[in-house]
Amino acid sequence: MNVILVAAECAPWSKTGGLGDVAGALPKALAQRGHRVMVVVPLYGDHDELQDTGVRRRYKVGWEDVDVQYLQTYIDGVDFVFIRCHMFNNLGNNIYGGNREVRFYSCRDILRRMVLFCKAAVEVPWYVPCGGVCYGDGNLVFIANDWHTALLPVYLKAYYRDNGLMQYTRSVLVIHNIAHQGRGPVDDFSHVDLPPHYLDLFRLYDPVGGEHFNIFAAGLKTADRVVTVSHGYAWELKTSEGGWGLHNIINENDWKLRGIVNGIDTKDWNPEVDLHLTSDGYTNYSLSTLDTGKPQCKAALQKELGLPVRDDVPLIGFIGRLDVQKGVDLIAESVPWIVDQDVQLVMLGTGRPDLEQMLREMENRYPEKIRGWVGFSVKMAHRITAGVDILLMPSRFEPCGLNQLYAMSYGTIPVVHAVGGLRDTVQAFDPYNESGVGWTFNRAEAGQLIHALGNCLLTYREYKQSWKGIQQRGMTQDLSWNNAAQNYEEVFVAAKFQW
Ligand code: GLC
Repeated sequence: MNVILVAAECAPWSKTGGLGDVAGALPKALAQRGHRVMVVVPLYGDHDELQDTGVRRRYKVGWEDVDVQYLQTYIDGVDFVFIRCHMFNNLGNNIYGGNREVRFYSCRDILRRMVLFCKAAVEVPWYVPCGGVCYGDGNLVFIANDWHTALLPVYLKAYYRDNGLMQYTRSVLVIHNIAHQGRGPVDDFSHVDLPPHYLDLFRLYDPVGGEHFNIFAAGLKTADRVVTVSHGYAWELKTSEGGWGLHNIINENDWKLRGIVNGIDTKDWNPEVDLHLTSDGYTNYSLSTLDTGKPQCKAALQKELGLPVRDDVPLIGFIGRLDVQKGVDLIAESVPWIVDQDVQLVMLGTGRPDLEQMLREMENRYPEKIRGWVGFSVKMAHRITAGVDILLMPSRFEPCGLNQLYAMSYGTIPVVHAVGGLRDTVQAFDPYNESGVGWTFNRAEAGQLIHALGNCLLTYREYKQSWKGIQQRGMTQDLSWNNAAQNYEEVFVAAKFQW
């Protein structure tokens, strides 16, 4: 197949979360399976390694004509194409326009950026022949991701299929997080440049937002297939709690929905070759050197963070955005219990200012036990994953979650709220059968987190053999993208033949 993945971010060039990781890794796995694969992404900032394709186009966005350039690079069998235009400049790390991208607010700027991006992306296969070969030969599927690119399936239909063109080109829309939808007032429709009869696709009523304009809704209705990033989340999306106002549309389109758990980039996230573990006292390790390698990383991390260097004390970690979705407040609520347990806790993340402040306060109050690292550091994320014994993920909802997957492949034991992808990927430890890879709890409450963490700590201290077994099972799972890529292939085929 010819596959074109279109996303608002793509690691390593741009990343605010798991979407960037997926856009960087899934295409490579598809290319390895023999498909011809392209990624299209906006260019934020400058990257010298990219080549100018020489292609220039102009698109209408509302009343403005916007000029775009296409740049390109080729890595691991994938053509990465970047769309450069003035709208994407000067956003810094704030590529979604900051906190304006909340549920009931569709900031016009980002809406206009995404209109431009989707218009430019849908035409890439025809105007940007990579390596002299055109992707647009009919056997083509677009993978759009989240509301940012949910306009792409709509443009494909309106500009091409409705005109009898590209009848065999298919679109798949992937839901990474339904909480962000591209909502706005109904007259935002005037910015998307579609025939008037398309308005109904976007118009949605819900008791909280009232009548509004909703880009995700239109994308879900129009895409040939919908994928979400775990089976658990696919189920949750159909409930009124999990669907965030789109559950009716998702239920109506259930026949085209499928859950596929993300993989991890095993080059980047592999303790044996991890580049962030080669200095400052850290070391690379694998299953066979776990007994010496992981303690060395733990000591290096304690030292780097200025915590007492002690091997006997369990070191617990949290990595993630600081917001209520991630359940950071549940950890904060559990802190009085945690600090009584002779453990150390390190938390890394940025996000809501009040939660950042809370992290700093926790550290000031318990300097011997807690470190709150406010900021985002790829290097620290890798080092914490390697150095801690236990990773907490008390997310209130979690479509897939990648940190628990990284943790398991580093011999770090996840303690998670059993929702979405966390439920799919962390089978609870069962002491009777010596099975399972971590601890889970069923309600997002501090008491439940404490209970699960308590059992985990008990096993760490008293049942070393069981602990080792959990680590081994975690480290030997196949968490690579290959499985997921194979499942995506099935979706492409189903879309192509409209099964
Ligand atoms: C979003 C979800 C996260 C998922 C990621 C990649 O960030 O919140 O759970 O792992 O997308 O699909």
